[in-house]
Amino acid sequence: MPEIQKQFDSAVIGGGVIGCATAWRLAQAGMKVVVIERGEVGREASHAAGGMLVPLAEADDADEFFHLCVASRAMYADFARELQEASEISVEYRTEGTLYLSLTDEDDEELERRWHWQHAAGLNVKRLKADCARKLEPLVNDKLRWALKFPDDHQVNNRLLIQALYLAAQKAGVVFQTQTEVERLMIESVAGQKQIVGVATSQGEIRAKTVIVAAGSWSSLLKTESETLLPALKVEPVHGQMVSVTMPAPPVNHIIYSCRAYVVPRLGGFLIAGSTSDKFGFEKQVTAGGVTSIIERAREILPGFGDLAITETWSGLRPRAADKLPVIGQDRMVQGLVYATGHYRNGILLTPITAKAVSDIVLKGESSVFLSPFSPARFPLE
Ligand code: FAD
Ligand code: GLY
Repeated sequence: MPEIQKQFDSAVIGGGVIGCATAWRLAQAGMKVVVIERGEVGREASHAAGGMLVPLAEADDADEFFHLCVASRAMYADFARELQEASEISVEYRTEGTLYLSLTDEDDEELERRWHWQHAAGLNVKRLKADCARKLEPLVNDKLRWALKFPDDHQVNNRLLIQALYLAAQKAGVVFQTQTEVERLMIESVAGQKQIVGVATSQGEIRAKTVIVAAGSWSSLLKTESETLLPALKVEPVHGQMVSVTMPAPPVNHIIYSCRAYVVPRLGGFLIAGSTSDKFGFEKQVTAGGVTSIIERAREILPGFGDLAITETWSGLRPRAADKLPVIGQDRMVQGLVYATGHYRNGILLTPITAKAVSDIVLKGESSVFLSPFSPARFPLE
C-alpha cells in the first residue's frame, strides 16, 4: 500500500455523492483535499438510490426543507452539464417529469391535498385525466382515476453520478484514500478554542485544517478522543430495498409514483421499483418480504410488472437525523469541523446545493444558501 499523504487543507470523511461533490468543489477552488473512504467510493446509499430529483412528488408541505430541495433541483441541469464536461461521463439527466397516480378513494384525497398546496404556492403541477395520463404511459393500471404531473421533477442515474463525481474530483486534484477507516477526529485546544487538526485512520494520521463529516448513516459513530461526536445528532440508517426489471414494451418514460411505491425508468433497458423503509440497523440484507412487497406495489402501478425478468435486487441505508432533516454547517464548539450528512431520502437531489453550501463555509466562512434550519446547532449539547 502506498504511503499515506499526511497534510491537507480539507479532509472529507466518506466517499458518497455528498463527500465527492464537496471535495470536487473545494479542489476546484484550489484547496488540497483528501476523501477518506472506508470501502470503495460510492458503494453505499449513493449506489442504492433511485436517482429521482422529485421535491414535488415527495414533499408534504412548502416548508424550508422543500425550498432547499427545489433550489437544489434548479441547480441540476447546469451541475450535470459541468460534471459531464469535467468527467466525460453523462449522468443521464432526464427531464420527462414525474406522474403521480390516483388509484383509490384515499389516493384521491392525498392527490387533492397535494394539488391544492402546490397549486396555491404557484408550483408547476398539472392535473391529468386518466386518458391523458395513459397517453403518456400506456401501461398504467386501468384502475387509474386521474393523475398529477410534475414536469420539473427530473432524474439522474445516480450510479453514473457517483462515477462522474469521482473522476471529476480526481481530475481536479482530490486524493482518494480508500479502504481507510476514520477511527477518531483529532481536536486540539488553540488559545482556548477547540480546533480540528485532522483524523486518525486505520492507515495512520491525516492532518487537515478542516474536516467534513460526510459519512452518511455512519456519521454518528464517529468519535473524538473522549466522546461521541455531537451525541444528539443521532443519524440512523433507514434500510431501503429496490428491484430492477427489464423494460417492458412500450417503454416507460416517466418516473411514476403511487401513494405506495414508485417506478423509475433507466436508459439501457431497465425499470427500477422501490422501495421499503425499515430499521434493520446496519445490516443490508435483501429480504423475500421486501422484494415481494415492492413487486406487489409496482404491479398496482403497472399490472405487467410481475411478468418482467428481475435483473437485480439491492438495498441501501438512508442516513436519517433525529428530525429527518439534513445536517449542514459548522460545529458550534470545534473550529474547522463541518457537517454534511443526514440527507435521508433526498441526498442525490441535494448534492449540488450541499456541495455549494459546504464549500462556501470552508472557503468563505458562510454561505448564501439559507442553512439555519439545517444547522448542527439545532441539536442540544449533551
Ligand atoms: P453514502 O452514499 O452512504 O456515503 C457515505 C460514505 O461514508 C460511505 O461510502 C461509507 O463507506 C463512508 N464512511 C462511513 N463511515 C466512515 C468512516 N468512519 N471512515 C471512512 N468512510 C466512512 N435520494 C434522492 O435524492 N433520490 C432518490 O431517488 C433516492 N432514492 C433512494 C432509494 C434508496 C433505496 C435509498 C437507500 C436511498 C435513496 N436516496 C435517494 C437517498 C440517497 O441515496 C442518500 O441520501 C445519499 O446517497 C446520501 O449520500 P451520502 O454521501 O451522505 O452517503
Ligand atoms: N427518495 C426515494 C427513497 O428514499 O426511497
